Formats: sequence, C-alpha cells, structure tokens
Amino acid sequence: LLKKTIARVSKSCVLYPLHWYNRSALCNACRMTVTLKLTRPDDLHLHLRDGAMLKAVLPSSAAHFARALIMPNLVPPVVTAAQASSYRDRILSALPDDQPFEPLMTLYLTEDTDPNDLSAAFQSGLIRAVKLYPAGATTNSASGVSNFERVRPVLERMADIGCPLCVHGEVTDDAVDIFDREAVFIDRVLDPLRRATPELRVVMEHITTAQGVDYVRANASGLAATITTHHLFLNRNHMLVGGIKPHYYCLPVAKREEHRLALRKAATSGDDRFFLGTDSAPHLDHHKESACGCAGCFTALNTMPLLAHVFQEEAALDKLEAFTSLNGAKFYKLPVNQDTLTLEKSQTPVRFAKTVVSEEGDVTVFDPGVEISWQVQNHVL
Ligand code: NCD
Ligand code: ZN
Repeated sequence: LLKKTIARVSKSCVLYPLHWYNRSALCNACRMTVTLKLTRPDDLHLHLRDGAMLKAVLPSSAAHFARALIMPNLVPPVVTAAQASSYRDRILSALPDDQPFEPLMTLYLTEDTDPNDLSAAFQSGLIRAVKLYPAGATTNSASGVSNFERVRPVLERMADIGCPLCVHGEVTDDAVDIFDREAVFIDRVLDPLRRATPELRVVMEHITTAQGVDYVRANASGLAATITTHHLFLNRNHMLVGGIKPHYYCLPVAKREEHRLALRKAATSGDDRFFLGTDSAPHLDHHKESACGCAGCFTALNTMPLLAHVFQEEAALDKLEAFTSLNGAKFYKLPVNQDTLTLEKSQTPVRFAKTVVSEEGDVTVFDPGVEISWQVQNHVL
C-alpha cells in the first residue's frame, strides 16, 4: 500500500517529505486530504491565570495538550510549595469533566525564596521548574529579582538537585532600548549567571532574537529555549505599521524580520534544544485595547493549526512532532505522551473562534493575519 501511495505523489508536492514520514495521508497537490498524526503535544510555557479567566481559557489548552508548564505570575505570585499545590488543585478542579491534562507547576523566584521549600517541592514532583523574572520586566513581575547575587544560594541548590531555571530574558534598565533588551540580557545577566553556576539547567523562555538562537546553539548541554507560536508569525512591522495592533503586543516584543526568520529556522530544525512554549497569555480585551495596554497574546486555542501552517511553509512538517511533543519532554525528563493528536489540512480556510468569553469579559484569540487551512481533527473550535 505504501508503495502504491508513494507512486501517486506529485513531485511538485510541497508536502513531499511528509509522504515518507509514517502515519500521514496525502496532500492537496496530490488532490488528497492530509492528516498528520502527532504524539500529543506539551506546552512548556503557559499562563492560565486564576478564577474566571482560568475557567475560560483552560479548556483550549486541555483540548490539545497533554501537559503544560504553568507560569506562576499570579497576583500575588506562586512563591511557595504550598501556594503551588493549591494553585494546582484550582487548575484541576477547573478542568472540564474527564479531560486528561497535567499541569506542571513552577515557583516564582524571589530574593526571599527558601531553598529547602523549593527543593522539597521539586523532589516530590510538585514543581518541575522555577521561573526567574527580572523585577519589572513583564506582566506581574514586581516581586521578581533585582539583585542576582541574592539568589545565588538558591540557584546553587537548584543546580545540585537538577531543577531547571526558566528565565524571562530581558534587562529592565531604562537606558536599554526595548528591542535590545533580550540581547543585552544574554551578555549582562545570563552568560555570567551560567558561568557562575555551570551545572544549572536553564531554559531561555520565549526567545525572540537571532542572538537568543545563537546563544543556545553555541552551548552544548543544559541549555534550551522555548519559542512561541506568535513569534513565528510576527515581526515588529505587523504590530506597528498601518495602526498599532494591541493584540500583537507581547513581551518580549516582536523584533525585526531577520529575527523572526532565525526563530523559524530554529523551531523547524529538529534541534532538540528548541521546543514549544506558547506563552499564551490571556488578558481581558479592555485591558489590551487601552491607552496602556497589557502585554500578552492568547494563542492556546489555535496554536497547533498555526504551527502546522508554519512548518508546512518551511517544508518541515516532519519536524513538527519534535518541536511540540518530543524535545520539551526530553529536556524536562518527562515520559513521552502515549496519546496522539491529529491535524488535518482542509481545502478551505478554517475559521477559528474570534474570542473566548469569560465571566469578566472577552479575550481575543490570536489572529495571525493569514489564512490557515489546518485544524485539529474532530475538534469543533
Ligand atoms: C505574560 C503575561 O501576560 O503574563 N505576558 C507576555 O507578554 N508574554 C508575561 C510574560 O511571559 O512575559
Ligand atoms: Zn510568559
């Protein structure tokens, strides 16, 4: 059957490499439907919020992802093991009935973090990582770290026990241009920190620059990076040309086109140091469409179809599973999910829901601004 199938493949087919990849049907160029069956993905950087917002956005993640690394930047932040445990319970009780979804918890690093509390939480499996926000770098980061020397004992303990540090990599120095803040962070903060604690396992979260990609590539072990869906679509022109688009504003802010291309290359390369962290970060529309709008794009609902679109454009559909379902699990030393998710390319563009409705107001779903013809099979959005 496989031989027969391959004989019918059009040589000009953009999905040609995929036909050699197991478990896939055929494509449009060959006048057939494409389905792509993946190991069920994990989202290794997700903001679920709390209360009414948690209830509204959690079903979007749980519908497609087996697990997600849950960011701790609530107000007040999730700082102690006890807080992480009760946040986990709130997430589990907000899940739709019989929906299997595992929240992987994190702690928010402060200058007062207790290394013993952290260490017990990691060793019991309650938390999987600790998140470093430079104070003032992004949404709800006021309790973050100002003096990196003060967290050195905690970082050393984390290195000893193998607990990964997830880093929001932007300096907060007023003198540094917002578009340079990631690159400067690497030189001024990240590299010295890693040299001082070389055994520490580090994830550079939501990288947005070629410098971020290069820094990961230049370092052999213990360093990885998450890449978001929206940064594979957006450069700063998309956000600013022809009128400001508040729903494209996130932190780190989208950069020049050359950086978007570097991120695409890294994400679709199959290199196991790059994996998906959507950074899906819902805010009520009136908080984004405002004179001082919040940072964050809500991408959980349509991330998988959007990624299929990107990977197809890059002729790398055979690398999608590594990016969404294998590389992250490997870094976090988690078993690969047993379940699967099937993506399907249709003949006509897919219309995703424009908003998710919470009891407190609407949340706009990320619109990439291009037609998408992929969708998750058997899933009404
Ligand atoms: C995130 C949020 O809203 O919590 N915002 C964002 O723009 N990504 C915080 C963060 O991850 O920086
Ligand atoms: Zn985030």
